[in-house]
Amino acid sequence: MLSNTTFLITGIADKHSLAMYVAKEIIKQGGKVVCTGLGVSEHHENLSEKAKAFLNKNFEDFKQAVYDELGDTSVEILDVTLDENIASFARSLSNKKIKLNGLLHAIAMDKTIRNKEVKPMIDVTKDEFCDTMNVSAYSLIRLTHYLLKHDVLEQGASICSLSYIAAAKVTFHPYRNISIAKAALERITIELADELGRSHGIRVNAIRFSPYMGSKAGNATLNQKDVNTSEKLSPLGNAKPSDLAYEVVHLFRPNLSITGEIRHVDGGYNITG
Ligand SMILES: NC(=O)c1ccc[n+]([C@@H]2O[C@H](COP(=O)([O-])OP(=O)(O)OC[C@H]3O[C@@H](n4cnc5c(N)ncnc54)[C@H](O)[C@@H]3O)[C@@H](O)[C@H]2O)c1
Repeated sequence: MLSNTTFLITGIADKHSLAMYVAKEIIKQGGKVVCTGLGVSEHHENLSEKAKAFLNKNFEDFKQAVYDELGDTSVEILDVTLDENIASFARSLSNKKIKLNGLLHAIAMDKTIRNKEVKPMIDVTKDEFCDTMNVSAYSLIRLTHYLLKHDVLEQGASICSLSYIAAAKVTFHPYRNISIAKAALERITIELADELGRSHGIRVNAIRFSPYMGSKAGNATLNQKDVNTSEKLSPLGNAKPSDLAYEVVHLFRPNLSITGEIRHVDGGYNITG
């Protein structure tokens, strides 16, 4: 189904990342992937030893997971907070004559959730708000901008990002700060769908997925009792990462006339309450 296609997969931290399930399914369907991981790039400045060690470990874990799960696959460092890093990454794909048929945005970060405790909205600082917004939402615009600028994204490409029901509803485990970023990510999806559909025939969609504790981000933010509550409230129970992967691959199919959609892969949770 995806033969002769190549997709950019962001957001792999380890083998349990949702993005890894998508990458595996793309390869299974005959496509190729380029994977990016968070690490120390030549554009990072004034990093503390602690931050450097964290980023280096993150990149080593990412590389090992990609090698173990996907075999011989192209890997690159990408920190979406650094414009220069995004630009040089897009340039390097262009120099290698790599053309992309789409990309998965699976990146989120919110420092107001620590040890599964969510900071009240009223106490969120400007830096905390803007950092979360930058990494988790604005990065979709910037990444797409540089991929287009360097002529890496093909005409008719498909872009998909990962969201969560908290973008629209206060749920049984309100996320506060990151919910605002997810709402922005969804609105960006719709605005880009209109703009890029007309200019490049590019499709842009987002998927709201069930709570999933298997990943680093999920494990850092969710409690088992929240996942159990969602399991009970969802008519089909929580969706699995493989369900998400099938839906992303569906949206990645060439020549599909679906864009500007905020889809649910959540076992029907969204129709309840
Ligand atoms: N786990 C869940 O319950 C759940 C549910 C719905 C949606 N999502 C979304 O799915 C996506 C993937 O999350 P996951 O659960 O697989 O967790 P994960 O921890 O495996 O992935 C999050 C990724 O974001 C990356 N990241 C953070 N800051 C970055 C930066 N500055 N530059 C580049 N990359 C950066 C991390 O390196 C990591 O790979 C996120 O957008 C998340 O909000 C997760």
